Amino acid sequence: MTGLSAGRLSWRGEDYAWHGQGWPELVIETPRLRLRAPGAADVDAFAAELADFDIVRMLARVPWPYSRMDAVSFVTGARADAEGRHGLHLVIEDGNGLAGLVGLSFSPVSLFAPAPELGYWIARSRWGHGIATEAGRGVLAFAFEALGVKAVRSGAFHDNPASLAVQAKLGFEVVGRSHVFCLARGAEVAHIDTMLTRGRFREVGA
Ligand SMILES: CC(C)(COP(=O)(O)OP(=O)(O)OC[C@H]1O[C@@H](n2cnc3c(N)ncnc32)[C@H](O)[C@@H]1OP(=O)(O)O)[C@@H](O)C(=O)NCCC(=O)NCCS
Repeated sequence: MTGLSAGRLSWRGEDYAWHGQGWPELVIETPRLRLRAPGAADVDAFAAELADFDIVRMLARVPWPYSRMDAVSFVTGARADAEGRHGLHLVIEDGNGLAGLVGLSFSPVSLFAPAPELGYWIARSRWGHGIATEAGRGVLAFAFEALGVKAVRSGAFHDNPASLAVQAKLGFEVVGRSHVFCLARGAEVAHIDTMLTRGRFREVGA
């Protein structure tokens, strides 16, 4: 993205900051985490962390079993998405390396899906330490404050209360119910649809 300048947001007194010449170079820093584009060096870590059905079954579009080739094509696709501004996929790094992934998908943003969609997964060894919430907040700060997005969609399968708790902490509100095909389960799964507006994000963080 030409013209992407550095920016920051204070959210309940915590600092969220971003910088980079374009989407492929974007780095978002949160109090404990660094979010940056995935690269070839991440392939083995992706393959290792996603060899976990309890993660993959909660994601709509990730194949099971997850192979090293799947990780290679994900990294290539992530780069293309960033260059085309169809999607932002950011590795979450904590002090010990790859802690998960967080992303915003802008495609397809249409009359029926008028906002980008937030998605994320966290490596099992890091669950329960607020990583998903903090990483999600970093991406939302960038989307609302730097990109000027007005609303972000998300949601979770009905049997994923932890993810719905993350979204509630971020300010998302339930806006509907649907069925979404889950590649790993090979079935349509009941889904709770959520939405967060920029106004509400700012209100919750004030
Ligand atoms: C869901 C997931 C992202 C959560 O990551 P995390 O870093 O552990 O999340 P956080 O620590 O930020 O917050 C988790 C919240 O869920 C709550 N929670 C955990 N298990 C829960 C359960 N069974 N029922 C209700 N709440 C639960 C936690 O108490 C915490 O809320 P709190 O801070 O108010 O106590 C992680 O478990 C994961 O990657 N799961 C598999 C992939 C996935 O579900 N991705 C999201 C798809 S929509």
